[in-house]
Formats: sequence, C-alpha cells, structure tokens
Amino acid sequence: MPHVDREFSLASRSEGRGSAEVGSLQLSEELVAEVVESDAIVVATPMHNLSVPSALKAWIDHVVRPNVTFSYSGDKMVGLLSDRPVFVVLSSSGNQWAADEPDFLRPYLRAMFAAMGILSVEFFGLSRRLHPETGNVTAADAMSILAASAPTISHDAIHALWSQFW
Ligand SMILES: Cc1cc2nc3c(=O)[nH]c(=O)nc-3n(C[C@H](O)[C@H](O)[C@H](O)COP(=O)(O)O)c2cc1C
Repeated sequence: MPHVDREFSLASRSEGRGSAEVGSLQLSEELVAEVVESDAIVVATPMHNLSVPSALKAWIDHVVRPNVTFSYSGDKMVGLLSDRPVFVVLSSSGNQWAADEPDFLRPYLRAMFAAMGILSVEFFGLSRRLHPETGNVTAADAMSILAASAPTISHDAIHALWSQFW
C-alpha cells in the first residue's frame, strides 16, 4: 500500500477534492469509493508494536480524507459517511506482548472509523494462545470464535466472510 504524497497533502489543505489524475489522489479516490459503496467492511490485520501495521495505517491515510469522508466543525472532526458494520479480525502473539502492555490498535481503529461517521466496529481477537505449541490459528478455530462472539451473524454469513481468507 503506497503512502499518501504531496498532491494528497495539497488537496487536503484546499477546499476542493483535488485532481484524481495526479499522484496518490487516484488511489485515494478508488479506496474511498470502496468504503463509500460498502455495506460492511472487513479488516483482517495483525497487531504490530501495539498498533496497526504500516500498510493498514497507509490505507487509513488514504480514506480518512478531509472534505471527502470527514469535515471539520471548528476543531472537531465530523464524519460524512453513514454508519455500517465493521468487523476487525485481529491476530496477535498474545492480546498484546504482555498483559500490562497498552493496546493502541483497538481505540485507534475505533477513533478513525468514527472520524468518518462509522461507529459500529467489532473486534474478533485471534490469539496464538489458542495453539501455543504451533503458533497457528486454524480456520475452524477462527470460525468458532466468530460464531461465539457474534451470535447475531448467521453461520452462513461467517462462512462466506471467512472463505475469502482461507
Ligand atoms: C513487527 C512486528 C510487531 C509485532 N508487535 C506485536 C505486538 O505489539 N503485540 C502482539 O501481541 N503481537 C505482535 N506481533 C506478533 C504479530 O501480531 C503476529 O505475528 C501476527 O498476529 C501474525 O501471526 P503470524 O506471525 O503467525 O502470521 C508483532 C509481529 C511483528 C512482525
């Protein structure tokens, strides 16, 4: 996932949307369109150093865009998108490295989706503690975690969602 560039930064400072023909704005337009048109969003991510990996951070930089997915009311960010469910499947070696380590990932993702107006964010943690000998999480383990954590989602829907990853 490439980072945002100078054209993106210039467009962010102006009132308009900028020209999608230049620099990273073209990619940003495509990624924003995917979010805008979505009924639901699935984020599958590892935890890296207590937060999101840099590729996911780059995606956030592209889609959390002033005058496009949020605007300002005074100093406050106001989301321009309608709410929709976001399912975050989170893998980590533990919940964090150690029990007393802070978790910046969950509050950060909640805050960034909320900035766009998306408030329904649910997390599904896949911890290596499931299989300490192998360090693996199987698809069946993941399905049962999802089914237990999200009783409102039908088994068929979970299976359809999960088959995209395995
Ligand atoms: C650069 C890096 C930083 C990581 N930071 C954390 C961390 O802060 N907390 C944690 O629980 N796991 C951390 N991990 C472990 C990953 O979350 C774990 O490897 C990931 O969930 C995927 O599992 P896999 O390595 O089997 O693919 C880190 C891994 C890497 C490579």
